[in-house]
Amino acid sequence: MQHVATTDQAGPDRRLVLAGAATTAVALVLALKARAEEPIEVVEGGTGVDTVPIEKMSFTKPEVTCKVGESITWTNNDDIAHNVHFRGGPAKGNPKAQGKMLAKGESYTVKFATAGEYNYVCTPHPMMKGKVVVS
Ligand code: CO
Repeated sequence: MQHVATTDQAGPDRRLVLAGAATTAVALVLALKARAEEPIEVVEGGTGVDTVPIEKMSFTKPEVTCKVGESITWTNNDDIAHNVHFRGGPAKGNPKAQGKMLAKGESYTVKFATAGEYNYVCTPHPMMKGKVVVS
């Protein structure tokens, strides 16, 4: 009988602990989500500290670097359209992670507000890969 009573007493305490853990988890997810929406910003008509030409189905500089607050520019020199789609690093899942399709001659500039390694692909040609390292 005493064993049953002990078990019953443990119930509400455990529920409180679980409720507390759930609240903490929700707060963490919200904090991470808020942070994940800020790392990149598309700069219309801007020019970055480095430019990645897109040629022959490839990002011709597979890895470029910049500092927090700086921008990188991509220019499509191919006859077919390409884009820049961040799928790894701080911009993963960000609403702005998938860039617009760029026709031949068009440029696209992104400003980086968070340090990290930003892996990206071209959405319709995921074998086209590149990386921006922001320090
Ligand atoms: Co492409």
